[in-house]
Amino acid sequence: MTPFRTLDSLPDAQRVLLRLDLNSPVESGKVQDNRRFTRHSQTVAELASKDHQVIILAHQGRPGNRDCISLAQHADILESYLNHEVAFIDDTYGARVTDAIEKLEPGQILLLENTRMLDDELPEEDPTVKANTEFVQSLSAIVDCYVNDAYSTAHRSHASLVGFARTLPAYGGRVMQAEYDANTAIAGKEFDGQVTMVLGGTKAGDIIEMMEYLGETVDTFLLGGIAGELFLRASGAPVGYDIQTETDQCDTQWKENHASIKTVLAEYGGQIELPTDLAYEITGNRKEQAVAGIDKKETFYLDIGTETAMRYADVIRDSTAVFVKGALGVFEDERFAVGTVTILEAIADTDCFSVVGGGDTSRAVGIYNLDADSFDHISIAGGAYLRALTGEPLVGVEVLKSGWCEWNICEWAYAPIHTTI
Ligand code: 3PG
Repeated sequence: MTPFRTLDSLPDAQRVLLRLDLNSPVESGKVQDNRRFTRHSQTVAELASKDHQVIILAHQGRPGNRDCISLAQHADILESYLNHEVAFIDDTYGARVTDAIEKLEPGQILLLENTRMLDDELPEEDPTVKANTEFVQSLSAIVDCYVNDAYSTAHRSHASLVGFARTLPAYGGRVMQAEYDANTAIAGKEFDGQVTMVLGGTKAGDIIEMMEYLGETVDTFLLGGIAGELFLRASGAPVGYDIQTETDQCDTQWKENHASIKTVLAEYGGQIELPTDLAYEITGNRKEQAVAGIDKKETFYLDIGTETAMRYADVIRDSTAVFVKGALGVFEDERFAVGTVTILEAIADTDCFSVVGGGDTSRAVGIYNLDADSFDHISIAGGAYLRALTGEPLVGVEVLKSGWCEWNICEWAYAPIHTTI
């Protein structure tokens, strides 16, 4: 049984504050459509159909990064899935927001501005501290309840993810419920044969941390993306650093993670496979380069090379279970999709238990018309899904669970905390 209250117990016609995870890749300022919109739109549609006034909170990017932008485009994409107007306001709380919320009719939907533009949202702090922020207190006073559907960001103790579960009756949305159930069941599975994990994407920190946890249970790690380059750098290859001042993919992450990369290499080096060739763009074409032949990094590497992709596919064919988190290259550009698509195809063709995680990676399944049914589970969560595999509790889920216990123990006496502090 799901250990938190779900939409099944939510009374109709409430003013619902709904937290989604619409964090998406942004290319040249344009938000890329992905599975997160498809999945969350189902929760929104269900709430709107039950005459709730739906007020949505979500985040995009991280402060200081170029993808930390307004949610205006997200409202349009969501609207296209819902066939229903999604109003947007470029503010998250305060007089304008209160006014817009008070004007909502049953079934209407309002998306508020990127929570990561707020000082109160970050840093990660105890839920009780977050519950006391002006942001949480102010919105809690004008809504009836809180629904968290953002499983994929439930590992962050941010105000919009943990604060409202302390101030309002709190529920898990449909995506939260489905992802929690699936990922918890997967974390408890045991496999007879080889367990392989494919790790890529741009968030190296998440990956390195999880390798430390999962080194005992995973037989082989296949690396690509930024983590792949950083591990190559730690192994002595002249890659894994930024070559232009306007890019911030490698150097910052190297500074933050090089010590742990070296620890992971020392401890689990025998289980880690690194790229032996990399692909880059020259005069509009894909070109490949053996890592052993690189003297100095002079270009961006946009994919693993074909030889690496084939070698990784062979490992997958010998595996009993394969977990994927993060793409191995910039697959949105067909020229640099070789690594990601080769491994996804190998998984689809192999009779292994398979999970593909991460908003971005799951998008590749759709773009390249791979049969979603060939995978046992496609999770829109990335970092949260890796944490769930380690059995580590997700703070955003834990606060929902404690709300549920509180409700069950003394439902008659349940009072939102914001009225008592
Ligand atoms: C994700 O994309 O994995 C989630 O939205 C969390 O994003 P974060 O790693 O920036 O917190």
